[in-house]
Amino acid sequence: MKECRHVAIIMDGNGRWAKAQGKPRTAGHLVGSDNVRTIAIAADEMGIEYLTLYAFSTENWKRSNDEVNYIMNLPAVFFRKYMKEFLDRGFRMNILGELDALPSSTRKVLEDAMEESRNNTGLNLNICMNYGSQREILLAAKKYAKDVLEGKADLNLDEEGFEQYLMTDGFPPVDLLIRTSGEQRISNYLLWQIAYAELEFVQESWPEFTPDVLKRCLDEFTHRDRRFGGVKNV
Ligand code: IPE
Ligand code: IPE
Ligand code: MG
Repeated sequence: MKECRHVAIIMDGNGRWAKAQGKPRTAGHLVGSDNVRTIAIAADEMGIEYLTLYAFSTENWKRSNDEVNYIMNLPAVFFRKYMKEFLDRGFRMNILGELDALPSSTRKVLEDAMEESRNNTGLNLNICMNYGSQREILLAAKKYAKDVLEGKADLNLDEEGFEQYLMTDGFPPVDLLIRTSGEQRISNYLLWQIAYAELEFVQESWPEFTPDVLKRCLDEFTHRDRRFGGVKNV
């Protein structure tokens, strides 16, 4: 099987899924957050080492206060339910995004999850919260510039060196990017890290994205011919 170490998912369609059930959008976010546990466990069992999930973007603040507040409270609910199980399974939680802009109670829950799992060596479960890729790259450029000004870095920076300034520092590149719910766009997600990722857009909404759908995506991945700019092997 072709190696697929790092899977990233744009978990889209919670709102439409809820609406189709005659429920408020927030009901979709609750079912969606429970599905994070299901898919993380399945991904781990399928041998994936890094699972990077888009939970809330820097653009999602445009939504109603009610919806934003509901999403901001979800990490507390989620980790209260599942953290013990994640620790038992050896998952390491990483949160990517600008945590400073989150409500302090949300930030604390996320920081605690990272701290409690910091020594684990199992699945890296990466949750992107108040994450935007352009913002990430801009912050990286600023950090690098500061290091240069302070004499801690010189101008001989290469791609690998720049990656150390990104929020994904230490992660391998994304092998497979999946977006649920039919939309075919990237929405400011991992622009640097998906340079050579395979892209898959599935019709299922995030609440409908089962381990079987993940398996189907991985099967499709094994049929892709990854060339990385080289010549096709015949
Ligand atoms: C994804 O589902 C979750 C977040 C972006 C927070 P959406 O809330 O975008 O659901 P749709 O796309 O409106 O159906
Ligand atoms: C992308 O979904 C962000 C997350 C899944 C967290 P959106 O629903 O916000 O994306 P657009 O607005 O349809 O591009
Ligand atoms: Mg959406």
